[in-house]
Amino acid sequence: MITNDKFDLYDQVEDLDSLPAIRNVPEDQYLRQRKPPRIAGSTPSSAMQELAEQENELNFSYTAAKHEKKWLTDSLTDFYRQQWFDDVLRLIKGGGKEASVYQCLGNQTTQTPFIAAKVYRPRKFRQLRNDSLYREGRLNLDDEGHEIHNDRALHAIRQGTAFGMRLAHTSWIEHEFQTLTLLHKAGADVPKPYMSGNNAILMEYIGWDEIPAPTLNTVNLPLKETRHIFDQAIHNVNIMLAHHRIHGDLSAFNILYMEGQITLIDFPQAIDPGQNRNAYHIFCRDTSGYANILLPGG
Ligand SMILES: Nc1ncnc2c1ncn2[C@@H]1O[C@H](COP(=O)(O)OP(=O)(O)OP(=O)(O)O)[C@@H](O)[C@H]1O
Ligand SMILES: [Mg+2]
Repeated sequence: MITNDKFDLYDQVEDLDSLPAIRNVPEDQYLRQRKPPRIAGSTPSSAMQELAEQENELNFSYTAAKHEKKWLTDSLTDFYRQQWFDDVLRLIKGGGKEASVYQCLGNQTTQTPFIAAKVYRPRKFRQLRNDSLYREGRLNLDDEGHEIHNDRALHAIRQGTAFGMRLAHTSWIEHEFQTLTLLHKAGADVPKPYMSGNNAILMEYIGWDEIPAPTLNTVNLPLKETRHIFDQAIHNVNIMLAHHRIHGDLSAFNILYMEGQITLIDFPQAIDPGQNRNAYHIFCRDTSGYANILLPGG
């Protein structure tokens, strides 16, 4: 199969019809089933019809662009129905062909006023240059975060069939979720992950009520604070190394800054240095870019 055919096949899966179901419900989270709304003055049959219409058309406060609407609904409806959040408020970043991050209204499930939902486009990972650089030594993960052992599935991934690319796409997302989980438990400055599946990750929202935290490349800091931020960054790099992780795309574009604190984001490319022969090269690239941006005159 030639490369272009693969891309065409990949486009066919872009409607997300076969997305994996939500998984990873933490045991300590009590998830209530959303009760169907009562519709005053309706006869049972028209009420059922209205209900069915409502179920297909969720009215979030955020008005999605036409091309985005089905994608957003397909990716977030199950999370919404399981009451992980009560509304989608705004697009933080994206809306194009790759991942988009949305600010959502939280509720008792996470007990936070807001959460962030990162929703992926299937083409995101296919556009990743040198993806084999990061995939070396990496397990292929299914939608439950378990290693894929099935020979046919592994063969499909190697061959780059439409099915294989869908599996690979899920695997990237699960890697991001597992890395966030690992690093958050280890005390690193990363958003707390809540849930993955269905083409999205739900995590802690970093920002103010109406303004998300900016990325570090967009803020001007006094020299004194730059040093402090640099130390925080190195502290996080040390935690990552102690837990066998290298970010893989570390730069000021993937660090949020808020009131003197940094939060590292965007981990699908993270690698385990013990499993990947490119680790030293990737590590040097991560950290030299960092120093250049953070250090005065760097
Ligand atoms: N937890 C969060 N809280 C607030 N904002 C976030 C959060 N996670 C991501 N963002 C915002 O969304 C943007 C994109 O997120 P991320 O870097 O994870 O995805 P991406 O696929 O790399 O997108 P891009 O290529 O645009 O960087 C970030 O630059 C940041 O502005
Ligand atoms: Mg990013």
